[in-house]
Order: sequence, then C-alpha cells, then structure tokens
Amino acid sequence: MIFRRKPSWELKENQVTDERLFLNRRNFLTASGGIALAAYLPAVARANLEDLRERIAASPKTMEVDEAANSWEEITTYNNFYELGTDKTDPYRNAAALKTDPWTVQVSGECEKTGDWSFEDLITGLPIEERIYRFRCVEAWSMVIPWNGFQLSHLIERLQPKSSAKYIAFETLYDRNNPLPGQRTRVLEWPYREGLRMDEAMHPLTLMAVGLYGKPIPNQNGAPIRLVVPWKYGFKSIKSITRIHFSETEPDTSWKLSAPHEYGFYANVNPNVNHPRWSQGSERRIGELFRRPTLMFNGYSDEVEALYRNMDLRQLY
Ligand code: MTE
Repeated sequence: MIFRRKPSWELKENQVTDERLFLNRRNFLTASGGIALAAYLPAVARANLEDLRERIAASPKTMEVDEAANSWEEITTYNNFYELGTDKTDPYRNAAALKTDPWTVQVSGECEKTGDWSFEDLITGLPIEERIYRFRCVEAWSMVIPWNGFQLSHLIERLQPKSSAKYIAFETLYDRNNPLPGQRTRVLEWPYREGLRMDEAMHPLTLMAVGLYGKPIPNQNGAPIRLVVPWKYGFKSIKSITRIHFSETEPDTSWKLSAPHEYGFYANVNPNVNHPRWSQGSERRIGELFRRPTLMFNGYSDEVEALYRNMDLRQLY
C-alpha cells in the first residue's frame, strides 16, 4: 500500500475537515471561547446534501494502492446487493427502488448517544477522505475502488460507546410492508446484518463510505452510507446502513446465519483457507484476463495482523 500523505489519523484538522466548516468553527471558537459547541454544531455545520456533495468532491486522497482502479462502470454495474436482486446487474437495474432521502440511522445498545440520527447529523463535520482500497469478494472476484468516506472510528467516538461495548453491529433497511425487490424472496434472512469486534471497528483502515470517484455513492453500491473493511471478504462491508448497535456479545451476521459451515464472523481474506466449494488462493480482478494470487488479509497484513496475534489464523474464516 502507498500512503500519498501521512495517514489521515496524523493529518492536521484543517487538512481533512471541509475548509469552510473548519474556518467557521475557528471563528466560532474564538468568539465564544468554545462554550456551547454542542449547540453550535447542528445549527452551523449541519451538512445538507449539497454540502456533502462538495465535501466528497473536495476530499483529499490519503491512501492508494499501486494497482489501477476499476472504472466507474465496472464498480457500479457489477454488484452484490441482494435487497435489489441476486444477479450481478440487478442492483444497477433496480437501484431506483432504494429511496435514500430522508435517511435515519437508529443507534442503540452500549453507548451514550442512542436514538434516531438523521444521516446529515450523524456525519456532520466528519473528515471525508479519498482512499483507494483493494476489495475482495468471497466469491473470488476483486476490484480496486476509490472510496470517499471517513474512518468509522471518528463516528464511534461521536457515539461514545461504554466500556461494556465489545462489538458493533449494523443492519440494512428492511420494511416488511414495503420490501425492496430482492427482499420479496427469503434468499437471506432480512434485514442484512453485519458486525465487527470493537478493535476492528476502531482500526484506522475501517471506513464508512459515502462517496465513490468523488461523487455521492450510488444506490447500488450502498447509498447513502456503507461500511468498507478492506482486509475482509466483501460481505462484511454492509450497505445502506439504518442501524448501529453496540453490544457486549458477538452479534449475528447474515452469511454466518445463512450458511455457518461456509462463512464465519471474522471473514478475513486468507488465501490458505479455502471456501468449502472453491479455492481462495487466487482471484479474478474484474477487467483482467488472468487470475491473480490472493494476498493474506487482502494485502493489508502489515496494518492488521496485530489484531489477530492471539488467534489461530485458520479459525478466522
Ligand atoms: N450489503 C447488503 N445490505 N446486502 C448485500 O447483499 N452484499 C455484500 C456486501 N454488502 C451485500 C452487502 C457482498 S457479498 C459484497 S461482495 C459487497 O457488498 C459488494 O459490494 P459492491 O457491490 O459495492 O462491490
């Protein structure tokens, strides 16, 4: 992996925060001595969708890999999003069925800031970066994707988890009275669910994506907000999140619930542990002719192997 600049967690605030918000905040802090910051944030720095569009377009590139990125067309027309259908082109074709405005995220469990958050309030002021990550699906295809998003750790800090929070769980929208096209079948148990251990969630590589190629993330890729965990198989990267829950115990996750002998909670990319029905030793990069070898932790070993030092790597599937 190549860091274009210092990793974002070392960047100065004015390098990563939207400049206008940063300047406003400085002015405000100077005028008020910093009192009533909590009251100021929703009023002045509230991100409407136009602001968000600008912040995404202006986000600084903080990380990339030395492999060519896949095209917008490849990334947005070859998808897995079972709520919109199981064929790879279904999410693109059925994208309009997903309504993302207004969007509410319910926050619950072991944290101080529980309740219903509007999407805008939830992400107000969080520093949006561009990060180009490898993305490896458990089905053994892969892409390189330029995401725009913020570290999940910044959002978690905003929600103030209690020390009892050991895991974070996510859900995708599911309205049983108005299901999305793919939710009319029981291909999975709805809603789609995923989760991480808290140290995985706080890891600086773990991203909440709100954009792609400098534009708001399209519906088929998980609008308006989705998880991206680049060292894990793609099914961990849950799309269109409507619920965040902090828990003491390991949460249920969709693919593990559906086929526990094939999919685990950790789902770290591991070329040495095959899927029961196919090899994970190599992958088909979308747009390429020949298969490439799959890399341990999808090429992010240096960054993440310390998370699993006390665990048997073979158990991590
Ligand atoms: N999230 C939801 N809600 N529903 C899904 O079906 N599919 C997962 C993941 N997140 C999925 C999801 C799988 S299997 C993969 S490989 C990635 O999304 C695909 O992301 P992409 O379509 O943006 O490449």
